Amino acid sequence: MATLNTTILGIEFENPFLLASAPPTASVKSIDKAFQAGWGGAVLKTITPDNLEMTEASPRYATIKEQGRVLCLQNIELLSHESVQYWIDGIKYLKEKHPTKVIIASIMAPVEREEWQTLVKTLNETPIDAYELNFSCPHGMPERNIGMAIGTSAEISILITSWVKAVATKPVFVKLTPNVTDITWIGKAVERAGADGFVAINTVQSFMGFNLDTLEPVLNIDGYSTYGGLSGKAVKPIGLKCVAQLRQNSNLPILGIGGISGWDDAVQYILSGSDAVQICTEVMINGYEIINGLKSGLLNYMETKGFNNISELKNIGIQKITTHEKLNKKYHLYPTIDKEKCVSCGKCAKICLESEYNALNFIDNCLSLNKEFCAGCSLCSHVCPKGAIKMCC
Ligand SMILES: Cc1cc2nc3c(=O)[nH]c(=O)nc-3n(C[C@H](O)[C@H](O)[C@H](O)COP(=O)(O)O)c2cc1C
Repeated sequence: MATLNTTILGIEFENPFLLASAPPTASVKSIDKAFQAGWGGAVLKTITPDNLEMTEASPRYATIKEQGRVLCLQNIELLSHESVQYWIDGIKYLKEKHPTKVIIASIMAPVEREEWQTLVKTLNETPIDAYELNFSCPHGMPERNIGMAIGTSAEISILITSWVKAVATKPVFVKLTPNVTDITWIGKAVERAGADGFVAINTVQSFMGFNLDTLEPVLNIDGYSTYGGLSGKAVKPIGLKCVAQLRQNSNLPILGIGGISGWDDAVQYILSGSDAVQICTEVMINGYEIINGLKSGLLNYMETKGFNNISELKNIGIQKITTHEKLNKKYHLYPTIDKEKCVSCGKCAKICLESEYNALNFIDNCLSLNKEFCAGCSLCSHVCPKGAIKMCC
């Protein structure tokens, strides 16, 4: 029998699905509801010292949709507006009511030893399971030299990680930003400074553009906009890349996050090296109840494939990711055309010609391949609107 139970850094998770630090974890009442729905744990909306003032903008969201479904969400939301005392009381309440659920405190403070250590010493007294250092919020905070301003500097990341590690009585995860050239650079730095695990990724810095009628920004705050954080389905390949790169360079636990909407996305993250996963945007769009499908889907997949636990699944994909230099250049696939499905629209032949190859041609209204000219690039199979082209040996 397969199990979703998993243990990371001595912390027992009843399932590997955690709510990420975000609106779904902004209040004790919401987290209580999520735990009742079946989530394995929650990362609290980032807690800051009470004297760090924050004012939200309105509106704070923009989306790109396809056929009514949200492909990605951009936000410019800041951190928790609740006091440290609110969270102290809330953590105690939640742990008493849900002792088997994992609670991780996400924290951020100005770059001063006293500020970070006071916050950690205070939260040490609560029954949290771990810390998550938010070095990665891409909007609002970097202007104040925190958030992503920390996580894009190896020196400052090392400094704060070592301050926190000097006083923390619980494991310390560092939440990394994808907005760097090489995430492993900061990953290695915080590992050297004593971090116990990674969380990847926070949102991807982005700009949603302009309304072409009004010439105002799409995310329009009284005529102006700013750069925000992109999340949801569209960022999954970026998150997977970051997790895989971290895994190829470290054995520390990783909580994978970014664009997970179904159990299959979670499997992708686990194969890429994640020990467990976090989810934000999909919960914001479809509610806490998605946990039922996530758990049953993952369990069913593991049982069908013969995996007993998450550890057996973890990292399997990593050996399959290599350098471009090492890829077998003798491997060559060719398009095969399903004549039943082909509607002779000519799209494949057109893009093939415009890509310089001219390997696909219509002869007597029938698509045919000239193997000699075919580069095996596969673009034709991706643009075919009917799925009539498959790449084969
Ligand atoms: C509205 C919103 C608020 C967020 N607030 C926080 C936050 O306070 N702290 C944090 O570490 N990440 C925050 N995030 C980032 C998410 O935790 C997560 O890293 C990101 O959205 C990618 O995951 P997803 O694609 O599942 O949404 C926020 C994301 C969104 C959309």
